[in-house]
Amino acid sequence: MKNRAIGVFDSGVGGLTVFKEIEKLLPGENIKYFGDTARVPYGNKSKSTIIKFSTENMLFLLKEKVKMVVVACNTSSSLALDYLKDIFKIPIIGVIEAGVNKALTVSSNRRIGVIGTKSTIDSKSYQDLIKSKDKKIVVFGQSCPLFVHLVEEGFLNGSLVNESISLYLNRFIKEKVDTVILGCTHYPLLKKPISCYLKNVKIVDSAKEVAIQTKEVLINNDLLNLKNIRGKKVFYVSDESKSFGDLAELFLKRSIKTVKL
Ligand code: DGL
Repeated sequence: MKNRAIGVFDSGVGGLTVFKEIEKLLPGENIKYFGDTARVPYGNKSKSTIIKFSTENMLFLLKEKVKMVVVACNTSSSLALDYLKDIFKIPIIGVIEAGVNKALTVSSNRRIGVIGTKSTIDSKSYQDLIKSKDKKIVVFGQSCPLFVHLVEEGFLNGSLVNESISLYLNRFIKEKVDTVILGCTHYPLLKKPISCYLKNVKIVDSAKEVAIQTKEVLINNDLLNLKNIRGKKVFYVSDESKSFGDLAELFLKRSIKTVKL
């Protein structure tokens, strides 16, 4: 059982930001990554559709005999995680709680901004979880639909990026937030220009925290693979996509050899 892989799924390539941190923290673990490239983006879809897609992604990973699943997609984590946890028996974690916990430890003025896809922000998953942990915190949710497209087109800086950042995030300056959660798999790639624009604001990238939580879950369930030095990594996609390999390089800063359909 311990030798089985950790399953990670996302709507596409973005979840590799989470994959990368898990790989770094747990180098001995085998990991099977599934990117639903045939149906990306999830960020503008309805709850029922996201539940349907996420359930199918789970079934695929279960057939691959994974020992736990990390839902790396913020939109799936926001809208489908409770459902998945209800119907599947293996340990499953999402990315929302890790980001929220981190933000709560770093914010001093208790004014927190959250950015994500339209479906994530409209679901209020981040806002409600923060409020449930501390009623006094003021949370500002902002969807940034252009960011995913910018990253996927390779725009990580420059005037187009800066204009989009100012369009979406200007409100956070006015509202004097001191912490912003990057609530989408793609946004860590825009961390630099976002930090430049939001001077003195703490930027929370939950991927590292998710990796720590993954390790805790493995330890608590006696599933940690202590035998391997270097685990095997396998990448699956639901559509033949040439750009997956190129984008994967952008996200992982290394090339990946085989991507299976
Ligand atoms: N992976 C999605 C998320 O983190 C972003 C891309 C999409 O819209 O599918 O919300």
